Amino acid sequence: MPMNYRRSRRVLFLNTLVRRKVRAKLALRELVQQSMGEEDSWSSGYGSDEGTQVDLLNKSLTDENGNPRDVLVEFPELGRFRKNGLRAKLFCHSSDDLTDRDYEQLMELLERNMASQYRESSWGWDRAKKMNELRDEDIRVITIVGDDNSLLGFSSFKFSQEDDAIVLYVHEFQISGHVARKGLGQHLMNLLERVARFWRMDWIMLTIFNANTVARSFYESQGFIRDSTSPELGDHQIMSKKLFEGVEAVDSSSENSEDM
Ligand SMILES: CC(C)(COP(=O)(O)OP(=O)(O)OC[C@H]1O[C@@H](n2cnc3c(N)ncnc32)[C@H](O)[C@@H]1OP(=O)(O)O)[C@@H](O)C(=O)NCCC(=O)NCCS
Repeated sequence: MPMNYRRSRRVLFLNTLVRRKVRAKLALRELVQQSMGEEDSWSSGYGSDEGTQVDLLNKSLTDENGNPRDVLVEFPELGRFRKNGLRAKLFCHSSDDLTDRDYEQLMELLERNMASQYRESSWGWDRAKKMNELRDEDIRVITIVGDDNSLLGFSSFKFSQEDDAIVLYVHEFQISGHVARKGLGQHLMNLLERVARFWRMDWIMLTIFNANTVARSFYESQGFIRDSTSPELGDHQIMSKKLFEGVEAVDSSSENSEDM
């Protein structure tokens, strides 16, 4: 995903999230109640509401020993894919356990799928910069690996807290062309959504090139819509999916008139 673009849109994005007045506190309360009932390891020592928000985000990022959390642990049934003659396994990684060779494989797939679209955009393709983005220490990666150990796809994403909202931001979402249209993308997105819901993230968000009509069709099929923070002009747009009904809808007409 075009990181520069996201940075340049950051202020707009933050403003919009503030105005969304996400009911994260309500969601958190539900989560705390649920977790206290369902999981002994959860602490009941939540302090202020702001504290609980930070706690929640930290718990989503690291386990009780402070190690990067494997977000697949809660969903073992989604750790395998068997459909349309394809068998694959999914693995969760943090920057700690990805080797240079792993990153190189991720980059090869990313380059195969996306380099031409980047070249045709105003950003151009900068492999070294992309690699730095992939290697961001806060990024989590889910890989899809075939029976022959080949990389069939991956997604990189971040959990982030912005004011009252917590968001799963999808940075990369890549399925290898030779296994496209077999349901792998849907499986991977379903997993990300389950993870985001489990951690009471309020939204899933991502950025796409306007010219990427295949990706847009895919994301729309998964319930994403063009986000109101998307620019009117330019070659990118932000798409989002609201995960909790408690999250107030954005009045896109007033968003656009104030922000653009
Ligand atoms: C977009 C992408 C992730 C889709 O993954 P996939 O595994 O092929 O998608 P799925 O098989 O799970 O398809 C799910 C649904 O998405 C839609 N879809 C997927 N590919 C589509 C295509 N080429 N044209 C139209 N709709 C498409 C369909 O509704 C499909 O359901 P259906 O097959 O029952 O009709 C994959 O094509 C890809 O990695 N593309 C290159 C990289 C890229 O553009 N990534 C997104 C960057 S923002």
